[in-house]
Amino acid sequence: MGGYTLIENASLANRNTLRVAARAKLLAEIRDASKLPELLDFPAVRNGRLLVLGEGSNVLFTNDFDGTVLAMETRGVHVETLATSGVHVETLATSGVQVESDGDSARIAVAAGERWDDFVRWTLGQGYAGLENLILIPGTVGAAPIQNIGAYGCEVAEFIESVEAWDIRERRVVTLDHATCAFAYRDSLFKHEPGRYIVTAVRFVLPRSRPLRTDYAGINEQLARMGVDKPAPFHVAEAVVHLRTSKLPDPMVIGNAGSFFKNPILDAALADALKREHAGLAAWPQPDGRCKVSAAWMIEAAGFKGVREGDAGISNRHALVLVNHGEATGPQLWALAQQVIHGVREKFGVALEPEPVVIGAL
Ligand code: FAD
Ligand code: EPU
Repeated sequence: MGGYTLIENASLANRNTLRVAARAKLLAEIRDASKLPELLDFPAVRNGRLLVLGEGSNVLFTNDFDGTVLAMETRGVHVETLATSGVHVETLATSGVQVESDGDSARIAVAAGERWDDFVRWTLGQGYAGLENLILIPGTVGAAPIQNIGAYGCEVAEFIESVEAWDIRERRVVTLDHATCAFAYRDSLFKHEPGRYIVTAVRFVLPRSRPLRTDYAGINEQLARMGVDKPAPFHVAEAVVHLRTSKLPDPMVIGNAGSFFKNPILDAALADALKREHAGLAAWPQPDGRCKVSAAWMIEAAGFKGVREGDAGISNRHALVLVNHGEATGPQLWALAQQVIHGVREKFGVALEPEPVVIGAL
């Protein structure tokens, strides 16, 4: 009732996938985004710090949060069919999803608190294409535009028409179009103006069909192993699920936040020099002429894969993944991340940047 619940001195241990034992001075579980202005007007909220949290799958708490954590738990999908013959609007009873579509594509507005992977599977079930390579990424729909989630040769930005948000500075609802969001590799406007926007919904445009992206290493091989020679989007999704589960540690089994470092994007000359010196360094040329190089490869070559300092570790399955073997604290995990950054800089002269949002340390 009331659209939100307030909890004082709340544990965040089950609200971050690294399973760090942090607490929030105040936690607001938000089920109705229209109540945000009322909530943000409470003196205890208005005068303190704010942190929006989805599933906590891309954050590292290095401290308790001395302010209000806004946990986005809103639900609903709205679909419009973009018809040459008119717009068809449908509301799905189960989740309140509304679809607007024309038979060839649909505009789908999704509440920030919906689970990303549930949404991807729902779109595939409805016969929409596009999100198949992005299956099984943890987190909420509202967080997807923040770092422009990406995997297996696709980024979510390609399908985002606009983002609806509460602008804390302007104190009003804003609709940010695709260009304004300034999407780039693991980057967007939201990362450059931290704390300004609370994403309340994301509007996607998804086609009924489009050429499949199967060129990322391993997809075609997995499709062949599955015996599929004419793949549909759900085949690609199945191949990606297989690859992801075989490579990445499961946060339900061992605490982690996926890749802890971004793959550095270097000038072509520097990347070429590194590749000459280090045969085997995986590298991906970018459309702007620069070159993305594999942070995992460098971390492994610098000797960090599988290391453990107390309960803080680097996964022995994937060198980009910082793991919590049990009781690691945020500062312990952050200290190990600093060692990795230092070791890679010493060996390769390359500065790694954390991918997750590190809260309290900077
Ligand atoms: P949170 O971790 O809760 O928040 C992340 C950031 O977004 C924080 O700064 C938070 O303040 C902000 N934020 C969250 N919701 C909102 C909102 N509604 N409004 C404003 N700001 C908000 N990422 C990829 O890109 N590709 C991958 O392949 C991938 N694989 C992963 C695998 C594993 C096992 C794990 C644990 C993580 C992986 N990630 C991957 C990272 C993570 O899944 C994504 O970053 C995801 O979008 C985070 O969603 P979340 O709801 O958990 O966000
Ligand atoms: N590699 C190693 N050692 C390892 C793991 C990988 O050397 O332990 C090298 C191999 O050469 C491999 C290459 O790294 O071929 C690439 O590995 P992978 O396909 O796993 O991709 P990644 O670059 O490590 C990125 C994303 C992932 C995303 C995958 C698949 C970043 C920071 N990470 O990882 O995203 O799922 O590609 O597209 O861009 C995340 O952001 O949390 C995340 C998991």
